Amino acid sequence: MTVKMENVSCIQDNRYLLRNINWQVRPGEHWAIIGLNGSGKTFLLRMINGYVFPSSGEMTVLGKSFGEFDWRELRKRIGFISSFLQYKLYPEETAVEIVLSGVSASIGLYERPKKKNIDKAMALLQDLECESIARQSYISLSQGEKQKVLIARALIHNPQLLIMDEPCAGLDIFSREKMLSAIEKISSKKRSPVILYVSHHIEEILPVFTHTLLLRRGEVHSAGETKRVLAKDNLISFFETDLEVSWRKKRPFIKI
Ligand SMILES: Nc1ncnc2c1ncn2[C@@H]1O[C@H](COP(=O)(O)OP(=O)(O)OP(=O)(O)O)[C@@H](O)[C@H]1O
Ligand SMILES: [Mg+2]
Repeated sequence: MTVKMENVSCIQDNRYLLRNINWQVRPGEHWAIIGLNGSGKTFLLRMINGYVFPSSGEMTVLGKSFGEFDWRELRKRIGFISSFLQYKLYPEETAVEIVLSGVSASIGLYERPKKKNIDKAMALLQDLECESIARQSYISLSQGEKQKVLIARALIHNPQLLIMDEPCAGLDIFSREKMLSAIEKISSKKRSPVILYVSHHIEEILPVFTHTLLLRRGEVHSAGETKRVLAKDNLISFFETDLEVSWRKKRPFIKI
């Protein structure tokens, strides 16, 4: 089991940020996690990364449970892409240096990078079609380029779990489609990590996302196979409003 949560709740300042989460992610699955602003998506991801802890319930990530394992070690098996991380990076480092800092899952480069890792970082940037910005400082990059650099940074240590928190936020529609294709490409690789993809937008749920979790006010509204979760009646119940769902090229679109 890649992620397993049983009755997981998290209370901060006397308020439930997550309540009774029951959720299982198995190897081979890719999940889209959808919820409105403030529904607890980022918090859920931070919990999986061990930055915050459940107040109650059982949780395992890549088979390890809290307390029994050094979470810093586990983080090396997880790739995490989040704007939360962007603020922690050194903005003057070059794109390739940021990617290389993923080797040790650290902020900043402390050791002289090995040639094989530099080659790998360049290959990843090339794969994401952004090798031309490798020597540019991170701060000078466009939003889309920054996201790609973070993806390459996450992939450099071959994670078993790849967690993306709104990687398409701030991208124009063309950049967004390119980003989605890049994610599809990652998922189609032979040893693809399990992907958890957070978004507000239903239309970003590509066919690669076999499963979908709808999170509302810190609770799981529904979770399971994407087709079933995105059924019209279920979405009406989730958004608490009337809407239409249409499918184009196996992608869902909703109209309110
Ligand atoms: N460390 C914390 N202490 C107290 N409250 C927190 C903490 N972190 C998040 N929250 C609150 O938990 C709620 C959920 O936040 P979260 O960032 O997970 O939302 P989200 O679903 O990612 O929203 P968005 O789509 O806007 O990114 C918010 O109301 C937020 O203010
Ligand atoms: Mg968020």
